[in-house]
Amino acid sequence: MSVGIIGGTGLTALDGLEINHREEVDTPFGEPSAPLIHGTFRGHDVTFLARHGHDHTIPPHQVNYRANIWALRQAGVERVIAVAAVGGVTDAYAPRRLAIPDQIIDYTHGRASTFYEQGYEQGLDHVTHIDFTYPYDAEVRSWLLQAAHEAQVAVIDGGTYGATQGPRLETAAEIRRMAQEGCDLVGMTGMPEAALAREAGLRYAHCAVVANWAAGLGSGEELSMDEIRDHLTYGMEAVRSIIARLP
Ligand code: HPA
Repeated sequence: MSVGIIGGTGLTALDGLEINHREEVDTPFGEPSAPLIHGTFRGHDVTFLARHGHDHTIPPHQVNYRANIWALRQAGVERVIAVAAVGGVTDAYAPRRLAIPDQIIDYTHGRASTFYEQGYEQGLDHVTHIDFTYPYDAEVRSWLLQAAHEAQVAVIDGGTYGATQGPRLETAAEIRRMAQEGCDLVGMTGMPEAALAREAGLRYAHCAVVANWAAGLGSGEELSMDEIRDHLTYGMEAVRSIIARLP
């Protein structure tokens, strides 16, 4: 059974993936961000999906999260590793660090965030209120941690991911508030993706790469896209070596 990899900013393609075929799919929710790419990566069957589209043209608030998750489910994927670039909010989550978060706070709004809408619940069990106490799948998380250990890549085990609406970055005060509320990381795509995965019965965890200090932290200077890209290039190489060592 293939592992679904949702690649975010910095990972619109999985270098080293031997592609078997590209699948254009449609779902009851429309088209996913990109064709599904089925292949093998260092011996693992993988189905790769570029969250922001192949050319990174879809901003976080316009990603069709429902179509993406549904497409993976339709393809028979059961486990999903969602790779995401994030900002670091608390001290340990410095640029270039990797983290496997264990909690989420959702600050997004106006996104289609459930499959339980009239006419669309076909194929889902009628348990409208999914349990989301622990939003990430424990088994996929421990897989990632084990693979990181084997790849000798340092990752932080845990952390709370705050999902913001974007596409703008946050204000310094918003980040201070998020820190007070318990967030360690900030990103724009973690929700509703994680909740939809749970609704769809997919086992899902995040592999987060810290691209920058969140607004108002670090040197306090404006966030530079060049610097962010640099950190991401470094971090995504580490992500690839983790994926290569999945059990
Ligand atoms: N804020 C929100 N999303 C992000 C950031 C950030 O600072 N960095 C990368 N994704």
